[in-house]
Amino acid sequence: MAAKLISTGSRHTTLPENYVRPLSDRPHLSDVSPLENFPLIDLSSTDRSRLVQQIHQACSRFGFFQVINHRVGKETIDGMLSVANEFFSMSIEEKMKLYSDDPTKTTRLSTSFNVKKEEVNNWRDYLRLHCYPISKYVHEWPSNPPSFKEVVSRYSAEVRELGFIIEELISESLGLEKYHMRKVLGEQGQHMAVNYYPPCPEPELTYGLPAHTDPNALTILLQDATVCGLQILIDGQWFAVNPHPDAFVINIGDQFQALSNGIYKSVWHRAVTNTEKPRLSVASFLCPADCAVISPAKPLWETEEDETKPIYRDYTYAEYYKKFWSRNLDQEHCLENFLND
Ligand code: OGA
Ligand code: NI
Repeated sequence: MAAKLISTGSRHTTLPENYVRPLSDRPHLSDVSPLENFPLIDLSSTDRSRLVQQIHQACSRFGFFQVINHRVGKETIDGMLSVANEFFSMSIEEKMKLYSDDPTKTTRLSTSFNVKKEEVNNWRDYLRLHCYPISKYVHEWPSNPPSFKEVVSRYSAEVRELGFIIEELISESLGLEKYHMRKVLGEQGQHMAVNYYPPCPEPELTYGLPAHTDPNALTILLQDATVCGLQILIDGQWFAVNPHPDAFVINIGDQFQALSNGIYKSVWHRAVTNTEKPRLSVASFLCPADCAVISPAKPLWETEEDETKPIYRDYTYAEYYKKFWSRNLDQEHCLENFLND
């Protein structure tokens, strides 16, 4: 189903038919309540063992948590949000110059999720970038707004450092050596999705992003501080993760679920729309190197009996990523294709 950008600058008064979900697959927004006890982790804490324990609890129970005092500068964050807003406020003609629905392109502006594969479209436009190594990709990035490259370079570099801090905590929280995960992941790739969800005339009939898990290792999400929309699935029920003004939302992707032998969960999440305000989010994805072999850490499955084996078979990230993009977003969990028999 073809779809073109929906951030046209004028409000939509009706929802085009290609966005309408079947009755069995709608968000039921009035059944969703905010998540109580959503972990908020203060990274400035000097009590390492408590931090590690908080990470363990959050990753095994929710697969999601928020971090504050994360050392990404406030100016860096404000700059990122404002340049992203400016970008999506540009004219449709200017934006269409960057449009592509080919998922293999490293820089592209697109819409929905994977328009060539999906039957129903999603109420989202997004700019997708590769951010590491920056020098390899920055020349492809948008040159409008003029400050884009500088602002996004700085943001990407600072967020990468935050990602490494969290990966070290994750290793320790599984009882592994501090750098275990970073070593396994190799020279990590970094992608960004700048998501823009225009006001939607019928939020009950469609999604911004339907339920999915993230295929990468770790996701660091910056949400518009004033507009709600992110929801996560806990024990079969959807909960809203409303923005905290100073926090990033962190979630475990499929690769940490595999590497932790399923102890940590790559949890289903989705974005819903509203009628009032556009919503912006900036997702940074840390990804294993293409050649990294994803193999559940031995101490997490090996026992004295010889018959034990890990839940997932070994595979390379390149193999996984290809499988992920060959599917529709809301199919079965992609990791299920990599179970050991
Ligand atoms: C994503 C994602 C959620 C949001 O980009 O993978 O889950 O709130 N985004 O935009
Ligand atoms: Ni996601």
